[in-house]
Amino acid sequence: MKILHVTPELAPWSKAGGLGDATAALAKALGASGHDVKAVTPLYGSVPGRERMSVLMPSLRVGVGGPPEKAACRVLSLQASKGFEAWFIEHDDYYGAKEVYPARADFAERAAFYARAALDACLASGWIPDVIHCHDWTAGLVPPLLNTVLKESPLGGAVSVLSIHNLQHQGVAHRGIMDFLGLPGWLWQPSELECLGGVNFLKGGVLHAARVITVSPTYAREILTPAFGHGLEAVVRRRESALEGILNGVDTDEWNPRTDRLIAAPFSPRSMKGKEECRLALAREFGLRDDPKAPPIFGVVSRLWDQKGLDLAAAALPSFLRDGRLRFVLLGSGDGGLEGAFRALAAGFPSLCGVRIGLDHGLSHRIEAGSDFFLMPSRFEPCGLNQMYSMAYGTPPVVRATGGLADTVRPWSPGATDATGIVFEHADLQGVEWAIGRALELFSDPKAYRKVQLNGMRTEFSWKLSADRHVTAYRAAGAHG
Ligand code: ADP
Ligand code: GLC
Repeated sequence: MKILHVTPELAPWSKAGGLGDATAALAKALGASGHDVKAVTPLYGSVPGRERMSVLMPSLRVGVGGPPEKAACRVLSLQASKGFEAWFIEHDDYYGAKEVYPARADFAERAAFYARAALDACLASGWIPDVIHCHDWTAGLVPPLLNTVLKESPLGGAVSVLSIHNLQHQGVAHRGIMDFLGLPGWLWQPSELECLGGVNFLKGGVLHAARVITVSPTYAREILTPAFGHGLEAVVRRRESALEGILNGVDTDEWNPRTDRLIAAPFSPRSMKGKEECRLALAREFGLRDDPKAPPIFGVVSRLWDQKGLDLAAAALPSFLRDGRLRFVLLGSGDGGLEGAFRALAAGFPSLCGVRIGLDHGLSHRIEAGSDFFLMPSRFEPCGLNQMYSMAYGTPPVVRATGGLADTVRPWSPGATDATGIVFEHADLQGVEWAIGRALELFSDPKAYRKVQLNGMRTEFSWKLSADRHVTAYRAAGAHG
């Protein structure tokens, strides 16, 4: 099958969160299964390794409005892995900045341009996909384009699929974006793309894609409700029969404690000595207590965003730190208020709490490997990758029962034999306090704790399985090949 992914993030070239990991790993797994896969994405100023890319199209004319000199781009390409080629849309005005999502007035044109360029690159090269798989809001207007403007083109027969990685970000733009893309005027109505006086990219994708996928079965059910629908629940309900949840996986080439060169020492379920070294190294890296009696380390690697519930953690942690019951390390960035709250926490408890604000790929591996627990108190979590990485690294996650967290972590209670972490129900202070207390109770029983660690390490979260399920979904949507 020929499969095109249209995505704003593609790791390791670009990544703002798990979307970059997920699209790259899915494309790789589909390519490894014998499919012919391409992923098209912008060439941001921060994309590394461009000297290794080749020029696929020196000048591609893109079917958008606006000044003609702005409506062209270069397309670079790179063989990413077997069967998977990455195409990069180079347009310095739009993507020359380093950030994936800079706060800019032309955010809608940036998104619309690369998505249309992806389609025009296919038409110009003669590579016509069977499936066009769009990811999140930036690619949301691709399915309406395919159903209208491009219906009679060679791409009109392709099956469009939309993955919702996060329904919170919908991309609501000015009405003029429809003219920019040449979309017909009848799409401007509340039952179509119009939403609160603007054009809603994600709504367009949900309504027009042949199939809608979310990144976990629980999230697929949650987004049908007002509590998780971010105002689009009625729209999602209209597509309920075409909606399904497929879990992400773990890319074991990247996240594997046996082979990981970014951590202090390798380890595996058979030999956990390396994990001790990782823990000691992590404590030292953050200048924390590292004596044998030091309490367990709770780690966080996260965007600091309301979604992640870390304000609740910031409120819950001081009493545990005051009593010396745990150590805490955090790597993250985002909301300025939360960054300040965690910095203050580290300043208040320097021997027990360490905080790094920023993005740091190597440190994210060292936290996964060196912590005793991984904390994810998310208010909602479409899938979540970090809890799966932490299980692979023998670091039981402490998670709220929502979305992919509920689908991937098996809750511990005294006597449980198949548990892989701590799961709590309520996104409030008491919920987080209860969960941390529960984790400490587990840690105080070394045999039970080891069992939970090993259960997690032996659980398979395979991208192969996820890729196979995607192929089944493509076929259900009518794709051949
Ligand atoms: P989300 O996509 O909602 O942010 P996920 O759990 O799916 O959540 O994925 C987050 C990804 O981003 C993980 O690979 C995680 O390691 C990474 N990440 C998040 N914050 C940072 C950071 N500050 N530095 C390095 N990696 C980070
Ligand atoms: C989003 C979600 C996260 C998910 C990731 C990859 O960023 O917030 O839960 O794991 O996409 O699908």
